[in-house]
Amino acid sequence: MTETTLLSPYSLSVLDLPNRVVMAPMTRYRAAEDGTPLPHVADYYAQRAGAGLIVTEGIWPSSRGQSGWRIPGLETAAHIEGWRAVTEAVHAAGGRIYAQLMHGGRQGHPLSRIDGDVPRGPSAVPEPSPVHIRDGGKADAVVPLAMTVQDIRQAVADYAQAARNAVEAGFDGVELHGANSYLIHQFLADNTNHRTDEYGGSVEGRIRFALEVVAAVVEAVGPERTGLRLSPGNPQFGMVEHDPAPVYRALLDALDGTPLAYLHLTDNDRYPALADLRPRWRGPLVANVGENGDPTTREAGEAVLASGVADLVSYGRSFLANPDLVDRFATGAPLSAFDEKHLYTHGAQGYSDYPPASGSYPSESASALEPASV
Ligand SMILES: Cc1cc2nc3c(=O)[nH]c(=O)nc-3n(C[C@H](O)[C@H](O)[C@H](O)COP(=O)(O)O)c2cc1C
Repeated sequence: MTETTLLSPYSLSVLDLPNRVVMAPMTRYRAAEDGTPLPHVADYYAQRAGAGLIVTEGIWPSSRGQSGWRIPGLETAAHIEGWRAVTEAVHAAGGRIYAQLMHGGRQGHPLSRIDGDVPRGPSAVPEPSPVHIRDGGKADAVVPLAMTVQDIRQAVADYAQAARNAVEAGFDGVELHGANSYLIHQFLADNTNHRTDEYGGSVEGRIRFALEVVAAVVEAVGPERTGLRLSPGNPQFGMVEHDPAPVYRALLDALDGTPLAYLHLTDNDRYPALADLRPRWRGPLVANVGENGDPTTREAGEAVLASGVADLVSYGRSFLANPDLVDRFATGAPLSAFDEKHLYTHGAQGYSDYPPASGSYPSESASALEPASV
């Protein structure tokens, strides 16, 4: 039997991946004020085309779900054109790319949204800490409006339309952001969902929104183009899940039989999601094991694959300053550290100006590094 490693290929739905390294979604605030990705976004992702699969930063499906100023959207013709330049650059460089659809729900502030509206979430529960507003400022979180059933239907429709827009823009698929405190997670978690209607209360109520979004997007673009990210128990941005296991088990049981492209699952110290949920998910599984502290190492990724719990591993921070991360894994070249000062600025500096170790980007040498056989 051949050993499964980060550098072994994998058939993910309709895509042939040359390796099992997924670039994890990372928000970088490189959009124009209207949410159109700036020209260097195409350079940034094309430089990282050596990843088995790239998942973009979170993208709002409609301005109703905008969680931050200069975060990109996938709603207007300008957005679609902007993203088409990105997907064409990545495909020309030999890569594959999914768009992460990120509806902010309660996240966001009237001063960080194009529509200037108070954000809406499952219930009127604000984030506990100050939030980012435009131009680098911070402000106390506002109390979100509790979504009406009509708001919920609109949000579901927004995801589906954004998924169609993503396909029109040339993406290979979409990842639904059900993790890290965004809208789908807000419905799943107990401190952000106090609803007593069919979208809250019981476990069945909490998972209903996630299931409706998945169903709508699957209908819009097909299950083979739909991935889902979950981070059970992740306390980011004030989320509290006292007992995540029954909720996520029920969600995966309800999804069983939907042949999604993949489930992207984050482990953390509070709840061993990978071990607990793997038996309930028969489809492709992307693991992320970096949410607790230091960036995920090559060794940690190899250990996850060797344990058999996941098929692919996602890497976030290591990709920031190492566009040729897969090449560096292949050659053992050391990893560079990223420049924190430019993590969330808007220009090319500290973004698309990190050189590859070898002097050429992975796209130009990818074929030379593909494993000969497995
Ligand atoms: C700068 C930055 C931005 C991030 N933005 C997102 C995002 O938009 N969507 C998301 O699902 N996760 C986001 N994450 C979480 C990463 O996808 C990943 O789970 C995390 O960095 C842990 O993996 P790592 O150890 O490989 O960095 C972000 C992380 C970082 C460092």
